[in-house]
Amino acid sequence: MTILQADALTHSFDYPLFHNVSFTLNEGESMAIIGVSGSGKSTLLHILSTLLNPNEGSVTLLGKELQSLKNRDLVDLRKNDLGLIFQSHYLFKGFSAYENLEVAAMLSHNEVDETLLQSLGIEQVIMQKVTELSGGQQQRVSIARVLTKKPRLIFADEPTGNLDHDTAMEVMDLFDAYVKTDKAGMVLVTHDEDLAMRCDKVYRLHEQQLEQVK
Ligand SMILES: Nc1ncnc2c1ncn2[C@@H]1O[C@H](COP(=O)(O)OP(=O)(O)O)[C@@H](O)[C@H]1O
Ligand SMILES: [Mg+2]
Repeated sequence: MTILQADALTHSFDYPLFHNVSFTLNEGESMAIIGVSGSGKSTLLHILSTLLNPNEGSVTLLGKELQSLKNRDLVDLRKNDLGLIFQSHYLFKGFSAYENLEVAAMLSHNEVDETLLQSLGIEQVIMQKVTELSGGQQQRVSIARVLTKKPRLIFADEPTGNLDHDTAMEVMDLFDAYVKTDKAGMVLVTHDEDLAMRCDKVYRLHEQQLEQVK
């Protein structure tokens, strides 16, 4: 079943970024978007994840065409079905890492999964304040928070940018297992081609086109 559909997306800022971008993603699939810095990867991810309206074209998530949704339905979609892992982490800074996960668990009626904390190697630091953690640890808390929410779609922009190679690969294993087991979908933006190739599909944003390379 199609979980995400992009139809003829076109967007410009000071210069045209991409033109006529279309693709589909099915349940249980992950896809990566690669491309040089400034090619528009983050902009495309913002459009796909409801945060930005494209100049032209449409996005359909879980069968819902975004532009036709009422604001309230859009808020519900974000709250219930989407998991965003972006460069700015948006963790609640005054709280401990664990409290951040508890909030996510409470809002989504799930529980904090202790094995997830171990898999991410953050069980030792989980009671510390977010501001006391390193960039890499904060990144892993953000990943734990999103997986705690159990979204149908994960959008991740350089989610492993602050992590060493081995940890990044372990995080990819977690994403992969989650997407397959929970029949979710993931769109990963990265400049790291090794990481990208771990996804089911890989696209490159190049000369305003989205070319499929895997
Ligand atoms: N909100 C914005 N307003 C104006 N220009 C923007 C905005 N967001 C991104 N850009 C510009 O669009 C181009 C592509 O940015 P971005 O999508 O972040 O690329 P990438 O993630 O591939 O590095 C850059 O030149 C950037 O300055
Ligand atoms: Mg970017």
